[in-house]
Amino acid sequence: MRIRHRLIGEKPRWIGISELILKNNYKKYAEIGVYDGQNIINLKKIIPGLEAYLIDPYKITKKMKGSLYKQDNMNKTLAQYKIKVHKALQHYDDIKYLYITSLKAASKFKDDFFDIVFIDADH
Ligand SMILES: C[S@@+](CC[C@H](N)C(=O)[O-])C[C@H]1O[C@@H](n2cnc3c(N)ncnc32)[C@H](O)[C@@H]1O
Repeated sequence: MRIRHRLIGEKPRWIGISELILKNNYKKYAEIGVYDGQNIINLKKIIPGLEAYLIDPYKITKKMKGSLYKQDNMNKTLAQYKIKVHKALQHYDDIKYLYITSLKAASKFKDDFFDIVFIDADH
């Protein structure tokens, strides 16, 4: 995998990502790790026609090591966020949800299917 950009700076994630998408005329976007949807909800406001694939199991898996996943009731919180994100984006018909880990999702797409992939999850 080639990492082409690192999002470091003071801009919100969706600003940096939207700049990259608009500059390069990217069409197919994947987000690995969606959580409460803050990034994708804002990104779709900026680029409503973006075709987005949202990848997140919304369940704690053995490989998730960050402190976030050690919180009590995190599975319950994730289940609530899953519904919240779906509801917030329900007016868009170009969003696909994959409730699986990135590794499982990767096997479903041909190489170079996506123009841009935002990786924001445990690996
Ligand atoms: C930092 S949050 C994502 C925040 C979101 N990208 C944003 O900017 O609003 C991390 C999310 O990654 C998910 N996650 C962790 N490991 C994952 C994996 N291997 N594949 C997909 N999602 C994963 C968790 O369930 C959690 O919802």
